[in-house]
Amino acid sequence: MPGRLECISLHSVKGGVGKTTLAVLAALRLARRGRPTWLVDLDLLGTSLADALPLEAPLHPERPLDLTRAPVDYLSAGASQREAFRRAHGIGANVPYLDDFILHANPSWDPERDARPEAIGWRLAGGPESLRVLPAQATPASAGLILPLLRDDGHSGFLESRLEWLLSYLVPDEGAATVVLDAPSGMHGLSRAVLSMALRLSGTPRQELSADGGMPARLADASVAWRTLLVTSGDIQDLRATDRWIDLIEDRDRAVVELVMCRLGRAAASAIDLANASIAALGRCARVHAIPEDPRLRIFAGEPLAAAEAMVASIVDAPATRDQDARPSPLTAEEREELRALKARMDRCSLGDRPTSPSAKSLRRLLDLEARARAAPSVAPAIAAKPAAPAGP
Ligand SMILES: Nc1ncnc2c1ncn2[C@@H]1O[C@H](COP(=O)(O)OP(=O)(O)OP(=O)(O)O)[C@@H](O)[C@H]1O
Ligand SMILES: [Mg+2]
Repeated sequence: MPGRLECISLHSVKGGVGKTTLAVLAALRLARRGRPTWLVDLDLLGTSLADALPLEAPLHPERPLDLTRAPVDYLSAGASQREAFRRAHGIGANVPYLDDFILHANPSWDPERDARPEAIGWRLAGGPESLRVLPAQATPASAGLILPLLRDDGHSGFLESRLEWLLSYLVPDEGAATVVLDAPSGMHGLSRAVLSMALRLSGTPRQELSADGGMPARLADASVAWRTLLVTSGDIQDLRATDRWIDLIEDRDRAVVELVMCRLGRAAASAIDLANASIAALGRCARVHAIPEDPRLRIFAGEPLAAAEAMVASIVDAPATRDQDARPSPLTAEEREELRALKARMDRCSLGDRPTSPSAKSLRRLLDLEARARAAPSVAPAIAAKPAAPAGP
């Protein structure tokens, strides 16, 4: 019986809001628990994780690389950079990227001859042994191959199916593995494919990509829990844009989506903005997290990561919002009905719509029920502790 996959995907409407930072820190924190942890860099045309972190490339002696086999060793981070440079400039030596997996489609679709994630997984120098990173190549040379996949809807089924195959290979024989997927900014294309996969795989019954079926058997048999983090800045225009995308997600699926307000500066973190944002968001998604703008979170500048890892604990340690192994609700039937009614009321408010904002008392009641429903803090204390929006005029 195959084991279990616990996936976290990060998305955003706008770029530069902190997805990759949070993805790296979340993967590190999760990997320290000792489980196999995969950090999947889906920013195929943006900044590669191989450029952002001291990664050690898997070493394959064969030429051309045989990505159906596990690597024999790992290069040093410095040697990996040199090899990556050579590959980017088309001068021979080879290091594998996630692109090789995504684009590798053998005509007979023989899983035995498919590229394996182990063959592509890079180690993080000084990082936990249980962590492997699948970095994107993200070079101008790869754009010609990648762009049609990202932009042409005719290919999106292929892309989503290829991601399903990737996940199927990450299902452990027993126990659980963690997969963190860092999607490119924008809610279209590849990011949409990941979101679609998240909603299909974590729902009950699990939905197939195509009416003809075709989900890899190993994935179909595994249990899958999925958390979708929609990352936004605290800027009102970004919150509004994000809110519009959340609006497109069906009610039953919004329970999977968590909002992360990242890089919150002093102005944006003012009580009213936060309370308003949480009021609007709570009606629409499962949780709201707040991460401040903090120099310790600039992990790509070379600062040590340990302090930063602890700063994402409130996100990482929250349980899955929709899990196939359903647990009995800790709320009574009346409390569940009260929660549903409060959420429906929140749903009618929109950002900046202060006159119709509910009272601080009902917001607190909602937060309390939400927290108990999940047997874990549902909203970052930074938000819950703020006073709610003022009552109407
Ligand atoms: N909470 C934070 N405090 C301070 N700096 C941050 C924080 N989060 C991210 N940054 C910095 O902001 C920049 C963008 O972050 P990051 O690359 O993680 O965003 P992203 O959403 O992945 O961007 P992209 O859309 O381009 O992939 C980086 O320089 C990062 O160090
Ligand atoms: Mg990024």
